[in-house]
Amino acid sequence: MLDGKRVLLIVGGGIAAYKSLDLIRLVRKAGGAVTPVLTRAAMEFITPLSASALAGQKAYTDLFDLTDEAEMGHIELSRSADMLVVAPATADLAAKMAGGHADDLASTLLMATDTPVLIAPAMNMRMWLHPANQRNMALLEDDGVARVGPSEGEMACGEYGPGRMAEPDEIVDAIVAQLGTGALSGRHVVVTSGPTHEPIDPVRYIANRSSGAQGSAIAAALSGLGANVTFVTGPASVPPPPGVAVVRVETASQMLDAVKAALPADAAVFAAAVADWHVEAESGTKIKKGVANTDLKLSLTENPDILATVSRMRKNRPGLVVGFAAETDDVIGNARAKLKRKKCDWIVANDVSPATGIMGGDENAVTVIDRAGEEAWPRASKEHVARRLAQRIADALS
Ligand code: CTP
Repeated sequence: MLDGKRVLLIVGGGIAAYKSLDLIRLVRKAGGAVTPVLTRAAMEFITPLSASALAGQKAYTDLFDLTDEAEMGHIELSRSADMLVVAPATADLAAKMAGGHADDLASTLLMATDTPVLIAPAMNMRMWLHPANQRNMALLEDDGVARVGPSEGEMACGEYGPGRMAEPDEIVDAIVAQLGTGALSGRHVVVTSGPTHEPIDPVRYIANRSSGAQGSAIAAALSGLGANVTFVTGPASVPPPPGVAVVRVETASQMLDAVKAALPADAAVFAAAVADWHVEAESGTKIKKGVANTDLKLSLTENPDILATVSRMRKNRPGLVVGFAAETDDVIGNARAKLKRKKCDWIVANDVSPATGIMGGDENAVTVIDRAGEEAWPRASKEHVARRLAQRIADALS
């Protein structure tokens, strides 16, 4: 995935620095090389020795280390990398980057580089939300600095909120998405995910039990193989993966518009559990109970079928269109009929009867059907199914 790619990893001084050691391990496992650089504050949390032992290379710490300058100047150190990754990016380090400071090795390397930079911020939630930090994040974004995280969760300081550094595997996914030499690098894939919400009135809607887990896992796996992923998601309970372009929608018709706007693409995977109907006359005001509505009847109209619409496109039809079939009975028969009716290239069939626990659960058992035949995959985690599907897509596009 990162074969031969060189990452210069700048470790800032925060408690999340301990995770950067795992990040070094994972980048190397993906085939990349890591040169660690520790700020003075980072050395309060981890040692240069542990970073260099895991990286298998010298860890740099000081701007004025004359031996280093003789062996490899700081300009060369940053230019020889394919990417600079700052993890954890503390509020202070991000502020230095935004302000263009160069008063230590880390900030000087960041100023001296013309290679892509990715930051993984980590800080207390108040610091994250502080206008000064938000201003700095906006400046960095304008400068073309990519960002992964932070996520929301419990912090080392005991508070709960945004500011936790993204997990090392998410950071690796974000690196791969930018640098990946994966089988799908340079390819654009559109993925739909999650349920849709079809409004009844301003406070009520029709929905379904989809969590978005399978769609998120597919987007992550495709991005892990280096694809540029546009992730069109309804209101799902599982968050989108890092490193993908997220387009949030509510209704089926908004989802169709977003998919059309995302094309052209090399492939499209329609994993969303799109509502089949919307309320014909959505009420602009909250429908009251009252005598008139003891027996409320809603009139429903069919939604556009996004998969069928895209599969039938003359212009801009992706080279490979993959649909899902959520069935409760005669799974294969119904799925095969869907493949024909919707004119997609593959259908991933799954049994969503409540007894399987698949809808909203962590596992999936699917059969992939195409014109040539069918392949039944054993029950496995949704991540595993996603990786196998992403690899099959990569093979088909190669
Ligand atoms: N799909 C879509 N747009 C819709 C309905 C479904 O894009 N309005 C897509 C889904 O994302 C999935 C496939 O079509 O890839 C099949 O969805 P499924 O819910 O299994 O089938 P339906 O077409 O809704 O048919 P039915 O509910 O009658 O089984």
